[in-house]
Amino acid sequence: MNVTSSSSVNFSALGQRAQLPTIARLMSMALESPDVLSLAAGFTDNRTLPVAFVEETVRELSHRVGEPEFLQYGSNQGRAGLRRVVAERLQKEEPAFTHTGELAEKIIVTNGSQQALYLAMQVLCDPGDIVLVDQPSYFVFLEMLVGLGIQTRAIPVTADGKIDSRELGRLLDRLRASGEASRVRAIYFVSYFSNPSGRSLSDVEKNAVAEQLTARSMFIPVLEDAAYRELYFERPEASVSVLGLPAWSPFPRFYLSTLTKPFATGLKIGYGLCTDSEWLAKMAYAKGHHDFGSAHFNQAILETVLRNGAFDRHLAELRPMYAEKCAVLHAGLAVSGLHAAGWRWEIPAGGLYLWLQAPQNLDTGLESDFCRACIAEGVIYVPGELCFGADAPRNFARLSFGVLPPGKLTQAASRFGTVARKFS
Ligand SMILES: Cc1ncc(COP(=O)(O)O)c(C=O)c1O
Repeated sequence: MNVTSSSSVNFSALGQRAQLPTIARLMSMALESPDVLSLAAGFTDNRTLPVAFVEETVRELSHRVGEPEFLQYGSNQGRAGLRRVVAERLQKEEPAFTHTGELAEKIIVTNGSQQALYLAMQVLCDPGDIVLVDQPSYFVFLEMLVGLGIQTRAIPVTADGKIDSRELGRLLDRLRASGEASRVRAIYFVSYFSNPSGRSLSDVEKNAVAEQLTARSMFIPVLEDAAYRELYFERPEASVSVLGLPAWSPFPRFYLSTLTKPFATGLKIGYGLCTDSEWLAKMAYAKGHHDFGSAHFNQAILETVLRNGAFDRHLAELRPMYAEKCAVLHAGLAVSGLHAAGWRWEIPAGGLYLWLQAPQNLDTGLESDFCRACIAEGVIYVPGELCFGADAPRNFARLSFGVLPPGKLTQAASRFGTVARKFS
C-alpha cells in the first residue's frame, strides 16, 4: 500500500508523518523474490502455535451455561477476569512490588503491547518532546516516535553494551544546560532478552538509571517493555522490574508486556500495569477513542488458558524449541565462516533474536549493497541502523530465529554467510 504524491487529499501533520513501516518494506522486497528466507520478522513459528489448546478453550467457552458474554463487547479497560489473573501472575513475579489497592485495577488490556506503547506516548508527548531510549531499541517503537514527531536520545552504553551511567549523567546534564530537560517526557527500555539485542538489563543497570535521574530530580514516567520476559530458554532472568526496585518507586511506572508472543501472536492481546492512576486514566480515555476495548473473545481465551494452566504448559513446550532454533542459527552462522569474516555476536538466554555486529566499515543498511546482495542470495534480515535514533551505526544486523524451522534456519545462515564472506 503506497501513497502517491498525486493524492488530492490534504493530510494532517500526523498523517504526513505516517510512513510505510520498514518491516512492511522488507516483507515486500522479500515477496518480490519468492524463494527468500526471512530472518527479519519477529514472528513465532507457525508449527508452535497452540491450535489444540485454543480448540479446547473455544469448546469450553461455548459449552458454558449462561449467555455467551465473551462474544459481546467487553469493557474499555479490559476483561476483569483477565486483569485479575494477570495481576496474580505479576504478583508472583514481582513479590517486592508493594502497591496500594487492587492490582487488577492498575492494569489496562490492550490490542497487543504495541497499543500500550502508543497510548503511553499519545498521552505523554507532544511533537518535539524527547523520549530517552535504550540502544539498540525496538525499531517499531522508534518508528512510532518518528510518526508522532517525538525526538529520541539514546541512553549511553559501554563497548560491551551495558548502560553507561556516568555518560548518562553527562547526557542529562547536557539536556539541562541546553534547556531541553523539560522536554524529556519519558524513558523507555526493553529489559528482558531484548528486541533486538537479546540482552537483559541487570538490577544494577536499572538502578543506575534511576539514580542518575533522581540526582537531577527528573522523575519522568518510565516504560519498561517486558515483551520477552517469559520467553527464556532455561531459567527466568533474575532481574527485578521497575515495579519491584525501590530506586524506581518515586517514578510513575508503566510495566507492559504481551500475552501474544508467548502464546499465539494472532490473538494480539497485551497489557500494561501503571502505578499512576491519572496516567492510567488518560491512557484508558485515549483507548476509548481508539477502539473502546480490545477483542473480548481473545481476552476470554487468554483468561481461560492462563487459569487452567494451558498457557504455562504451552510455554514449557515452546522454550526448548526456541533454544534449539537459536542454537541452530548460531551454529549455521559460525559454520558459514562469519567469525572469520569479522562478525561478532552473543548467544542470548531467551527471546527470538541474534544481534550481529559486522566489521566496522561494512554497511548493512536498508539501501546498502550488502542488503541487496542478501536479498539476491535469498535471505532477509533487519538492518541494525533501524534500531537506533540519529547517528546510527551501520554495521549491525538483527536476525530472528522465530519463524523458520531448523532446516531452513541452517539454509538461511548459509546464504547470509555466503554474502558476508564476499564482503569481507
Ligand atoms: C519489544 C517489543 N515490544 C512490543 C511488541 C509488540 O508486541 P504485541 O503488540 O504483539 O504484543 C513487540 C513485538 O515484536 C516487541 O518486540
